[in-house]
Amino acid sequence: MRKLDVFDTTLRDGEQSAGVNLHGSEKVEIALQLERFGVDIMEAGFPASSQGDFKAVQEIAARVKDCSVAGLARATKSDIDAAWEALRGAALPRLHLFIATSPIHMEYKLRKTPDEVVQTAVDCVRYAAERFPVVQWSAEDATRSDWDFLVRIIREVVDAGARVVNLPDTVGYTTPAEYARMFQYIRENVPNLAGVKLSAHCHDDLGLAVANSLAAIEAGVEQVEGTLNGIGERAGNAAIEEILVALAIRKDVYQIETRANLTETALTSKLVAKLTGMAVPANKAVVGNNAFAHESGIHQDGVLKNAETYEIIRPEMVGLKSNRMVLGKHSGRHAFKEKCEELNLQLSEQQFNRLFNSFKALTETKKEVTDDDILALLLESSIEE
Ligand code: KIV
Ligand code: ZN
Repeated sequence: MRKLDVFDTTLRDGEQSAGVNLHGSEKVEIALQLERFGVDIMEAGFPASSQGDFKAVQEIAARVKDCSVAGLARATKSDIDAAWEALRGAALPRLHLFIATSPIHMEYKLRKTPDEVVQTAVDCVRYAAERFPVVQWSAEDATRSDWDFLVRIIREVVDAGARVVNLPDTVGYTTPAEYARMFQYIRENVPNLAGVKLSAHCHDDLGLAVANSLAAIEAGVEQVEGTLNGIGERAGNAAIEEILVALAIRKDVYQIETRANLTETALTSKLVAKLTGMAVPANKAVVGNNAFAHESGIHQDGVLKNAETYEIIRPEMVGLKSNRMVLGKHSGRHAFKEKCEELNLQLSEQQFNRLFNSFKALTETKKEVTDDDILALLLESSIEE
């Protein structure tokens, strides 16, 4: 088994979701829950971006003790100074310094030559490493960068003091096999990577963020980044809970250990959804309302006989009490009988059959039949008797 660091960026990249704006106290509440969830590093914010974010990062740094707290900085000394002021009180402060390395970003956004980008990155990493015990450096838009340019700049920033090198798929452009190859290429061609951790950070523009992250893990990265519920810029970041559950369920494939306390998953997801106002789609893997719901008679019958027929994740693993049998038009007698027993209804066979028929008739007009609906049907049928 190999140890993987989990870097959560719900409070930074996640907060960059359109329409999300967390107050300082809300960020602290999420941070304390992320600590219970057992992430190794939480990126608390971008201290130079606003006074509010600076204060929130400072408070999180003071209160979170059981995990490293990171802050984002562009490659400028004033950003690094702001981050150091906000994070110096943390138990394990980390700077997350980034600069873009793709031709399109260097030419149009930074208006710098590749040589100037290398020099700026090296100067800033060196400056940051004089303050922070851990400097993480990111090559923004790495997946649209020239791999040999990445080799060159990584070698230089590592010499300057970077201890973690993150290669983000900033625009969600890569594919699993290509992303894995990129990490292999870097590993094989950068000569000074001993003791340096490589990190994957994926966005979901093509719906591949989790698959790409898992491919990077298979290719040997030592850190993975993501957000709760997959919130983040545009289509979002890799959903950290999906990655963690995949690693736990498919230990046979990935052979990875993390510190994550998966029984905190549902609670953490709900807190993030509530405070960000970003609702979780019902069919979302792991944390969606339907992720452990069974509706069809065939599935319900199978799950009632042995849950593993249709459930690869036990709900208890992510902190839920049980799965959910949804009574709808596809449900059969087995699930309906269980429900009657759960409601403590004492029915003769004839009464049960009559109630089951009324239930089936109701599903023609109602998508989900509730406990109250069943009790009302029972009352109607006893009045008719
Ligand atoms: O997606 C990205 O490139 C980022 C960087 C700031 C690391 O979030
Ligand atoms: Zn990002």
